[in-house]
Amino acid sequence: MSARDEDLDDGIDGDDDDRVVFRVAVTAADVLRVMVVRGIVFHDEQGVGWSDEFDDADAAAVHVLGECDGQPVASGRLCLLDGGWAKLGRVAVREQWRGRGIAHGMVGVLMQEAARLGVTKLKLHAQVYLEDFYAGYGFTRQGGVFDECGIDHILMTRES
Ligand SMILES: CC(C)(COP(=O)(O)OP(=O)(O)OC[C@H]1O[C@@H](n2cnc3c(N)ncnc32)[C@H](O)[C@@H]1OP(=O)(O)O)[C@@H](O)C(=O)NCCC(=O)NCCS
Repeated sequence: MSARDEDLDDGIDGDDDDRVVFRVAVTAADVLRVMVVRGIVFHDEQGVGWSDEFDDADAAAVHVLGECDGQPVASGRLCLLDGGWAKLGRVAVREQWRGRGIAHGMVGVLMQEAARLGVTKLKLHAQVYLEDFYAGYGFTRQGGVFDECGIDHILMTRES
């Protein structure tokens, strides 16, 4: 494990075999692993079209990978915007690994990366069922429900 990995390891589980390690995807292999998670979750499971799932923002985004026992299990990305803003998104955990706090870990790492990059204002398009989850991280709902890729979403923001 590199020093960078250790920085982002939230130590969700003390058992080395199923511990989830988060790292910013720097190598092509890691970026591809992130995209595999997104393909499985957003395209295969949620029906998002390929051209919507992989967009122009991916080229410049910060991608975060969550791995467990050598398998890519979680994704997330941070898109830097003008005016000190960044957009957090593409948070996904493969089905078999859900319900054990991995999304909490991913959001924590994305917010840590945002702070490290000097971002003070965060926004996201949350799937409606996750409003309480993001509210727990200080995000506030702005306005009503809108459709994005056939899924109901809300805009949420957080300023520090
Ligand atoms: C949403 C998702 C990322 C959660 O991953 P996870 O690792 O199972 O989540 P965690 O175990 O860390 O739990 C995080 C929180 O998510 C919320 N949550 C997860 N599944 C939920 C559900 N089905 N309904 C409502 N809230 C849910 C809960 O608030 C939970 O917090 P709690 O454990 O304190 O109750 C995962 O279910 C997923 O990939 N879903 C499909 C893709 C998606 O909807 N992505 C979000 C885009 S905005």
